[in-house]
Amino acid sequence: MNNESLTEKLKGKFIVLDGPDGCGKTTQAKLLTQWLQARGISTNNFRDPGDTPIGEKIREILLSPQHIAMSTRAELLLYMAARAQLWQEKLVPAIREKTCIILDRWVSSTCAYQGHAGGVGMHNVIKLAEDSLSMPWPDMTIILDADVKTTAGRLPGRPDRMEAKPPEYHEKVRQGFLELAEQRENFFVVDAAGDIETVHEKVKKEVLKYF
Ligand code: TMP
Repeated sequence: MNNESLTEKLKGKFIVLDGPDGCGKTTQAKLLTQWLQARGISTNNFRDPGDTPIGEKIREILLSPQHIAMSTRAELLLYMAARAQLWQEKLVPAIREKTCIILDRWVSSTCAYQGHAGGVGMHNVIKLAEDSLSMPWPDMTIILDADVKTTAGRLPGRPDRMEAKPPEYHEKVRQGFLELAEQRENFFVVDAAGDIETVHEKVKKEVLKYF
């Protein structure tokens, strides 16, 4: 495909990179953003939760290891609140300007973490997302998948409150992502066990195939 038609196709599109902690999605979201920008495609990269003053405060509350008392339903609502703010403050203007958006996590994370691993139920998360967000489903979601041993080995020495949850929780998170990818359209699973450049090539291939 020539560059011009890719630029046209990606205008105002909304692509999510998601997956378990340590899957490498933050690095891959940045590389994908840089690759698109280098091709002259106006692209913005945001993280969820965060990237707004309110969202960053909610993120701190969610990830502070001091908040061990937090219930899964409180987590669910806080993640959704940060996302609603990100949508309003950053994503609506970017879409209006026809910028391509690369998002580091989105509703798929809440389905896998609070819905599947946390036991709220993915269908309940989806119901809440569809009631609270104008665009709960992106144009494309790439799930970066690797086994828990691999992803755990990539985590920082001092884990945050979510990373510190036990290996069984993280195994369920992974299964939640894989189940969701089977259920929904426009979800693509990429093997994230390889090195950064290998995974980047696979991500680019999926984007070029889809658009
Ligand atoms: P990050 O460090 O990848 O930005 O994500 C923050 C943590 O929050 C990570 O452990 C995954 C978790 N999380 C959820 O549990 N539910 C959600 O809806 C989102 C977006 C993240």
